[in-house]
Formats: sequence, structure tokens, C-alpha cells
Amino acid sequence: MSEAPTHERGRTVKHESATLHVTGRASYIDDLPEPKSLLHLAPGLSARAHARVVSLDFSEVLAVPGVVRVLTCADIVGQNQVSPVHAEDEPLLADGVVHHVGQIVFVVVATERGIARRAARKARITYEDLPAVLDIATAQSGEEDLVWRPLTMERGQAEAALEASPRRLGGSLTLGGQEHFYLEGQVALAQPGEAGEMRVWSSTQHPSETQHLVASVLGRPHHLVTTEVRRMGGGFGGKETQANSCACLAALAAELTGQAVKMRLDRDDDMMTTGKRHDFSIAYEVGFTPRGDILAVDMTLSARCGWSADLSGPVTDRALFHADNAYYYPDVRLHSRAFRTNTQSNTAFRGFGGPQGIVAAERLIEEIAFATGQDPLDIRLRNLYGTGHRDVTPYHMTVEDSISDLVLTRLAEQCDYRKRRAALRAFNAQSRILRKGIAITPVKFGISFTATHYNQAGALVHVYTDGSVQVNHGGTEMGQGLHTKMVQIVMREFALPAEMVRITATTTGKVPNTSATAASSGADLNGMAVLDAVTRIKSRMIDYAAAKWQVSPQDIRFTTDGVRIGHEIVPFRQLAWEVYFARISLSANGFYRTPRISWNPATGRGRPFYYFAYGAACAEVTIDRLTGENTIDRVDILHDAGESLNPEIDIGQIEGGFVQGAGWLTTEELVWDKEGVLKTHAPSTYKIPACSDRPRIFNVSLLENAPNREETIYRSKAVGEPPFVHGVAVLHALSDAIASVDDYRRCPRLDAPATPEAILRCLARLEGEPL
Ligand code: MTE
Ligand code: MOS
Repeated sequence: MSEAPTHERGRTVKHESATLHVTGRASYIDDLPEPKSLLHLAPGLSARAHARVVSLDFSEVLAVPGVVRVLTCADIVGQNQVSPVHAEDEPLLADGVVHHVGQIVFVVVATERGIARRAARKARITYEDLPAVLDIATAQSGEEDLVWRPLTMERGQAEAALEASPRRLGGSLTLGGQEHFYLEGQVALAQPGEAGEMRVWSSTQHPSETQHLVASVLGRPHHLVTTEVRRMGGGFGGKETQANSCACLAALAAELTGQAVKMRLDRDDDMMTTGKRHDFSIAYEVGFTPRGDILAVDMTLSARCGWSADLSGPVTDRALFHADNAYYYPDVRLHSRAFRTNTQSNTAFRGFGGPQGIVAAERLIEEIAFATGQDPLDIRLRNLYGTGHRDVTPYHMTVEDSISDLVLTRLAEQCDYRKRRAALRAFNAQSRILRKGIAITPVKFGISFTATHYNQAGALVHVYTDGSVQVNHGGTEMGQGLHTKMVQIVMREFALPAEMVRITATTTGKVPNTSATAASSGADLNGMAVLDAVTRIKSRMIDYAAAKWQVSPQDIRFTTDGVRIGHEIVPFRQLAWEVYFARISLSANGFYRTPRISWNPATGRGRPFYYFAYGAACAEVTIDRLTGENTIDRVDILHDAGESLNPEIDIGQIEGGFVQGAGWLTTEELVWDKEGVLKTHAPSTYKIPACSDRPRIFNVSLLENAPNREETIYRSKAVGEPPFVHGVAVLHALSDAIASVDDYRRCPRLDAPATPEAILRCLARLEGEPL
């Protein structure tokens, strides 16, 4: 007889949709059987960056056979407003003024998607241009137009400490944006019901927000709208708010036509219309000792936010929260500025501004390493947060769980960093054209939504009379394995096999008022809510069994052989049936709110994170001095997922996160022309990493025996976003390779993305400029 299966913890259960994924039978919204007389939508996009709309002529559009009607802002029944943060600066359809090239001005409703798309191009729009601000530099030089309050974090006296520092340097850094490139693009299907009901299938990370905005656009109470999402074909933050437009437009058209309506954006339209990762421009000053101890830091982080606020406030806040990465700054002042520009409205993207802040911290380290002639690893180790001392962040939170030292040191040993670094330098001394570089970088990533109220979750679990279980929760599945982890919790608590536990689509009708599946918190929040629901049902079953069999509740255990009640074994299904027969509910809601967190943006102080996730990565690269081409030759990662809920899924998250992070910093480049037209709006011009770009040696391991100090679900740690930051090691390895041409005398100040062109420019600067 086996005990309650603690082996389920950390056991590798394959992704609940793995077979469906690989056989093409997992259904995405565009795969759902289409309702009778389904209509399709295509958007008409602004051709100007900033202009008054003088006239709209749809006569040729409406003349196309199959076109049913055209919708503009005048057709909106309720509010023409979809700002997710109530900034009231984001009309669903342009109202008199357009704010970027690609903004949706109108939509065509037609019997076929192709007809709608072709017809949309026949609209005649006349504009009267207004001055446009396209980039951060222009935004900084003009009258300041911010989409969000600036945030300042301050501890000690940064300015005075800089003045007093024996060594001091300053500089600036620019970081490019990033297209999400989810494989399934933005899509929604809306179906009107009776008496004002609207059902919306949406590829959204935030079903509740989609529900609320659809209701607002239709001028309805929330209870008439239901949003459902089985899975997304990738979200990466790009469907946290950006899914709302398609859902609202499809619902609006469904409302006005009385028919089901689908809106699936073409890839080019998707890239032209939706927001991306924020690009940043960062100015820094750092004071330090001759040995390389940081004394003072002053940084201003400026972001290109695009035409509306969207999530730019929380994103720029999170950039500040991570501008220390794993390092203690004795005296510090950090400042953010979220600039409004006439470009796509930038949004959440894996890491949510955190990676941008971390890249800034790592630049400081690199500058100090070159200035003092030391290995950057030694500067890193010297400046890490301590435990019990040197442990207060710029936002006055005490870091209680720092393991950066352990992780960095262990990884450096595991991958033989020091020896390999020396060998690469010897190689470079002999090699004129090919140069190699290596770098090891840490990550410390704060877990929790900084909007404190978001840190809550609900779940709904039903046990049926045959002993099978259905689990629902507020989180969404986008490939990250959240649903698998939730099923594992039920399996473990009831000691049931996978086939007895079914997870269903996420729907606002089952678990309401949910938070976005974001901030890596999906498993932390929903996992505890699922555990709460299961525990409630379990205790009812135990109470019933204790009374009937006259045993103490402590003598009842759920085992893989059945429920052990004293000396008897009762099959789970039999107990479920008996409990039902005794008229006791086998269904329960679960709820969870994260303890110990607080944050006050007005003072820049608080304890915004429940805990931190840690890790480190080491990357080795080769560059070609003649072409700037480069390869990632080897990567080693050691990552802290606490007591991992599912090691294989977590390793998948780490591998994928690393590749996406490396792509952001190297090959992925967004280019806008002088008129504000995004030129890189298709895979032909926007280069995401391909299979051939993966490191040929790629060793990923989880930190062993590292349970979360906090009481998270089975002591696990969130793993969705932190590994994205491991890509930073590649940027620094490239920089190390470049520095060889100048005999490592100067910090190359390599900005991102480090495309071959950028690497060539950086090389030319080092080779051409006198010291
Ligand atoms: N992994 C896959 N395969 N697809 C995704 O879209 N999104 C990432 C990460 N991992 C994503 C992913 C982002 S941005 C976040 S916030 C987390 O997953 C969200 O899920 P979690 O909270 O359940 O980790
Ligand atoms: Mo992730 S950027 O928090 O959706």
C-alpha cells in the first residue's frame, strides 16, 4: 500500500495538452466549429502618425459584394474607451484624431475574411497632419508628455555620495523594443445570446478585463457578458491587454448584426496595430571605490510608451524595481519617465520592464569592471545583496532570501567559467578575425503584481459522483503549463491519476473577477486557490468518513490505492458517491490572497514582492570582426524554481525564456521610418531566433533543495518570466568578445539589439577612436 503520493510533487507530468499540441488537435479559437452565418471583421488602419481625420469615404468599401457594413466610432453603443488602467486615452475606434500609423479607424464586416480585408483597403480617408513625436529622443527634447506619473525611488543621498566617491563615471544606454510574435495572433469570436447576452471566445491573458471592456463598449452590466479561453497559442504579455480590441470589436459587430462575428488579425495588421516591449533610453551615473565597490547610483530610465498609457505605468515602475538586479546600492536615486509617442502603444512583455532595468544594472557592473581592470564576475560578487546586512533595496524592502552568491558561485564552478575565460583570451590573442567572449550574469526577479489588489485568485472544483474531478481557476493557459500544474495539485491532494482530473477552459462564468495571468504569478496564485478548494471538499469527505467509520480524522488518508479509513480502503469514487448520497456538497470555491505585500508609489517604499526568484547564466559567443555575424556557442543556466512543481515544464520555461531574451538583445529589431511607419511588420523583416540560433551546448539545471522560504504552493517559485533575463549573458559575452579588439581597455558600451550591424559599429568605434 502506498502513502499519499508526495512523489507527485516535482514529478514530471507531461503537459495536459501535449498530445493535442503535437497532433494538431488542440483547438485554438480559429479552429472552433463556426456558427451559422458567421461574419468576419477586418480593420482599417491609420496611415498617419498623428493627424485629424478630415473625411471618411466608404462608398467603394460598401460596393464590394459580401461587405455587410462598416463600423466607426459613431456605431459604438456604450463607451468608446478600452484603456485598461482607466487613463481614458484609448478609444476602441479612432475618434476624429489618429495617434499612430496602424491605429484602428474602422472595421469592415463581411461574409468572408478575405473580402473584409480587401474591402478595407478601398476606404478613402483624408487627414490633416499634426506634429508627431516618434521616439524617446524627440520626446525628451520637447514639452514633456508623459502617459504615467514619474516614479522616484530614493535611499540615502545619491548626489552627495556620487560627489564623495573616489571614482565616478556616467553614460547612457539604449535598448530596443520587441515584438511578441505569439504564433497564434490576436483573435476573438463573439456570439450574441438572448436578452442582451454576449459570449466571447478570446485569445486573452485577462478574461475578466476582456469581459468588463466588452460590457462597457456594449453599455451592459458585466453579468451579460461571458469570456472564455481554452488556451492561447502564446501570449508573452502581448495578450494581457492587447486582446481586448478584437474581442470588443467582434462583440460590437455581433451586437449590431445579431450574428456571430470573428475577428482574426492578419500577422502584418497584428504587428502594425498592437503594442510591443518598451524600448528604453537610460542615463546613469555610478560612484565606486578603486576596488570596485559600488557607492552611489543615479539613473533615469525613459521609455517609449506609444500613444496611450496601457500598462506603461506598471512597466516603467517594474523597470525601476529591477534597476538594482542583484546588487546593493548604498546611496541611490532611480527615476522613471514614461513618454507618450505616436507609435503603437507599448505593453506587457515577459519581464514587464524588469529586464530593461536589469540590463542597466549590468551595464554599471561592466563599466566598473573595465574601469578597474577586473573580471566582471568579481565586481558582481563584490556587490551582491548580503543577508542581514547590505540588504535593503532602493524601494526600502529588505531582501530576506538572497541566494545570488550561492547561485553565481556554483554556476561559475559548474561551467568552469574562470578556466574557459582564460582559454578564450588565449584564443583571441591568436585569432585575427574570429573573437570569442564569455560572460556570467545573475538574475533576481521580484514575484507579485506591484498593483497589490491583483494578488488574489479564485478556483472552483467539482467532484462528480463517479469520482472524477473537474477543476477551474482564474488563470489562462498560453503554453506555459499552468493548467498542468493545477491538475497536478488536484492529483496530489486526492491521490488520483491524471485521467480522473479534467481542467476546463477558463471562463468568467465559473471564476469571476480574476487577475491577468501575468507577472509569473499564475501558479502561485491559482495554485493556492485550487488547493483551498480541494482542501474544503477533502475535509467534508473526511468528516463524513470519520463519522461513519468511527475513526479519527487523522486516520484518514487519500492514497493511490483509495481512501484509507482506519484499516479499511475505500475507493475514492465510492466515498464520493456516499458523500453525495448523504447530501453533502462535493463542489467548492477556493480563494487566495498573497500575504505580506504592500507598496506605496507616492513614497516609493514598500514590500511589493512576496519573494524573489534567482538564477544565473553563462554564455559563450563567437563574433566575426569582418561581418559582425555571431553565434552563441554554449550556454549554462542554473535557475531557482524553489521546490519545482514540474521540473520538465520549468526547464522548458527556462530554455524558452532564455532564447526569447537572447533574441530581444541580439537579432530582433524594430525599425520605424521617418513617417512613423513600422517597417518590420512581418517575419521577413523581423528576425526572431530560429532553431539554428540555439546554443549548440545548452545546459539547464534547476537549483536543488531550494524550497521557497515563503509558504507558496508546495514551496515552489514562479518561473514564467525570470529566465527571460538569462539572455543578458549573451549581450555581455558579445561585449566581451568586442572588447578584445582594444585589448580589454575600454567598456564597449554595446547597446541592444546587438545586431551584426550594431556589433560592427561598436567594433569600428573601438578600433577607430584613440584611447
Ligand atoms: N510560456 C509560453 N510557452 N507561452 C507564453 O505565452 N508567457 C510568459 C511566461 N511563459 C508565456 C510563457 C509570461 S509573459 C508570463 S507572465 C508567464 O508565462 C505567465 O504564466 P504563469 O504566471 O503561469 O507563469
Ligand atoms: Mo507576462 S509580461 O506578465 O504577461
